Formats: sequence, C-alpha cells, structure tokens
Amino acid sequence: MSKEQHLLKSYNLNGLELPNRVVMAPMTRSRANNPENAPIEGLHDVYYTQRASAGLIITEGSQISKEAVGYVNTPGIYSKEQIQGWKMVNKKVHEANGRMFIQLWHVGRMSHPDFHNGDLPLSASAINPESQSYTYEGFKDTVTPKEMSIEDIKRTVQDFKNAAKNAMDADFDGIEIHSSNGYLFHQFFNGTSNKRNDEYGGSIENRAKILFETIDAIKEVMPENKIGLRLNPSLHGIFGMTMDEETIPTFDYIIKKLNDYDLAYLHLSEPFNDISEVPYAVTEIAKRYRPMYNGTLMINAGFDQESGNKVIEEGNADLVAYGKPYISNPDLVERFAENIALSDWDTDTFYVPGAKGYIDYEAKARKQEA
Ligand SMILES: Cc1cc2nc3c(=O)[nH]c(=O)nc-3n(C[C@H](O)[C@H](O)[C@H](O)COP(=O)(O)O)c2cc1C
Repeated sequence: MSKEQHLLKSYNLNGLELPNRVVMAPMTRSRANNPENAPIEGLHDVYYTQRASAGLIITEGSQISKEAVGYVNTPGIYSKEQIQGWKMVNKKVHEANGRMFIQLWHVGRMSHPDFHNGDLPLSASAINPESQSYTYEGFKDTVTPKEMSIEDIKRTVQDFKNAAKNAMDADFDGIEIHSSNGYLFHQFFNGTSNKRNDEYGGSIENRAKILFETIDAIKEVMPENKIGLRLNPSLHGIFGMTMDEETIPTFDYIIKKLNDYDLAYLHLSEPFNDISEVPYAVTEIAKRYRPMYNGTLMINAGFDQESGNKVIEEGNADLVAYGKPYISNPDLVERFAENIALSDWDTDTFYVPGAKGYIDYEAKARKQEA
C-alpha cells in the first residue's frame, strides 16, 4: 500500500468539510421493528455513531411516505415519531463528530399489496417487475403495479419535498435522492418499465422529468448544496430492471443536466453484476461519467482499500462509498489508516431485527490504540 492514501485526504463537499473520502453507502438493515417504523434509541444511534469516523454516512433507504415502502421494518421520514427518532440519532452522530445524509426512498413497484392494505403498489407503468418482495409473511411474488396518475406523481413529488423538510428538521447534514437500483425513479427512466405516452413517458426528457421536478421541489425547502443523488446506469437483470438501447443515453442526459444544479454530489454505482455480455450496457461507470459531470462524483460497488485509493488517484472519482465492508467494520477509516485486515460480514443478519450483526461488530483499530 502506497504511503499516501487518497481515501484519507479531507474533502470539501460543497461547503461541508469531510475529514476523509470514505463514505458509508446506504444500506437497508430492517431494524425499525416498531409500529411507527421509527429509529430506536440504543440501536440505530449506536450503529451509526460507531461508524461516525466515515467522511460521510448515508443512511439506509428511508421511505418518504406510507405508500413508498416495500420492505419490512425500514424506517420512514414522514411522521413526527420518525423525525424525533432521527433527531436523536443525529444528535449522537454529531456529538461523535460525524456527518450524515438520509437516503429518501420510494420503491415504486418493488413492493407488495401486503404493505398497502391490499392496494397495488405504484409505478410508471402497469408492468410487473417479475421479482419478489420480502413481506411480513416472507417472500411473495411481485404483482402488476398501478400506473401512476398525474395526481399520484404530483403527490409523490410533494412527499419527497416534505421528507426533505423533515430531514432538515431532524438535523441531517443533507439528503440523498434514491433514484437508483430499480426503484421508482429508475422505473420512470427505463423504457422497459415506462411505457407511458403522456409528459412522463416516451422521450428521454419525459422519462427523466419526475426526477427534475423532485429536485426542484426539494430545493424549495433546503439548500441545493445539501442534496445528493444516486444513479445505477448499468443495472440489468436485478431489481426487475432491463436495459435497452435508450438506457445509457437517458443516464447521459440526466447526468449532463445535473450540471445545471449545484448539488452536494452525484453518487454512481459500477455494475452490480457481470453485464459484459449485455447489449447497451456500460462496464466502467466512473470512467464514462467523470468527464460528463462537473460536480463531486462519489463511486460505489465492490471497492476495497486499494481500488478505492486508485479510483481517486486516477481522477475518476472524488469519494468512494463502501457498503458491506461498513457492516462488519465500524472503524473502516481507522483500519485503512493502519492497514488492518477487514472483518467478514454475516449475510444472515443483514435484515433481521435487533442488535446481533448490527452493533456487535468490533472496532479493532480503536481497540488496539486503547
Ligand atoms: C444489506 C444491504 C442493504 C442495502 N440497502 C441499500 C439501500 O437502502 N439503498 C441503496 O441505495 N443501496 C442499498 N444497498 C446497496 C449498497 O449501497 C451498495 O451499493 C452495495 O452494497 C455495493 O457496494 P459494496 O460492494 O461496497 O457492498 C444495500 C446493500 C446491502 C448489502
């Protein structure tokens, strides 16, 4: 490992000073198993505070409304109890000198009627993702969603705006719009999931419209430089998504247009699976989009210490987001600094309630220092 680690250099995130470039990626952990789906004292605060040395923490996806949900026990950011819960978490994280953005989430069709009193989940078009939804009764096949009316779209944009306002009330340092991984916005972007023939479908501009309307609405309640956004252009064959010849041109359009805004960052994912044989897919996302985007570029998926330092050194990203390594290495930054081997994560406890596999991973580096 070269002496100088780019990951450990400070970074000015459009006004927010980060002590390093190691970001904790958003990860659903399904611990909000209370009727309010609010963060729990002694659990969520401990989990995030343990990871406060990250340059930036991005929380787990948090539903912006009741109808935005698609997984069991995920926290929300639409009710008073949820705002209070997150406020408590932020207080602890800030006391530990951490910084935290909340990921605002609407799953769209990646849900099940069980979450909506029997009503259909919403999406761009009435097309079943042919996937599975993990409900309170276990895995169930997804259904054909309801195509959103213009009223549904306008209400959802408002729900994002309210959630952003709530995030500010809960003392978050910023928000990340979850427009990635096959969820609602992504369902609008891709021609295979969006067959609308109104102003939200058809052309590339129309399919991206809901996203820009959402950013514009959110800008009314919080500073633009605290808004981040996540995209996964080459997602194919998972989360119900299928690429076509217009997928990459759509992301090119979105990313170029994001230059008109003064956002905190653009968070991109390298392909989640092997898409080398997939027509129309792009294999190197950071390399393609770095020249197209003028602001801060955060990159994710599959990075380790070496490749994380390298991607920054090569100038293809400013920040690197780590997902699974952060589950089992709360002191990831210190481990990188001291070149300490990483601990393995336990997939069995990714999404189960309680402390096990959540707040019981050891901070080895700090322990050694003590
Ligand atoms: C348990 C788990 C939960 C996840 N939940 C989310 C989520 O809520 N929002 C999101 O954008 N990505 C989510 N992801 C994806 C991660 O943010 C990240 O993209 C992925 O783990 C790849 O990065 P890694 O190789 O560093 O783990 C999740 C991943 C895992 C493993």
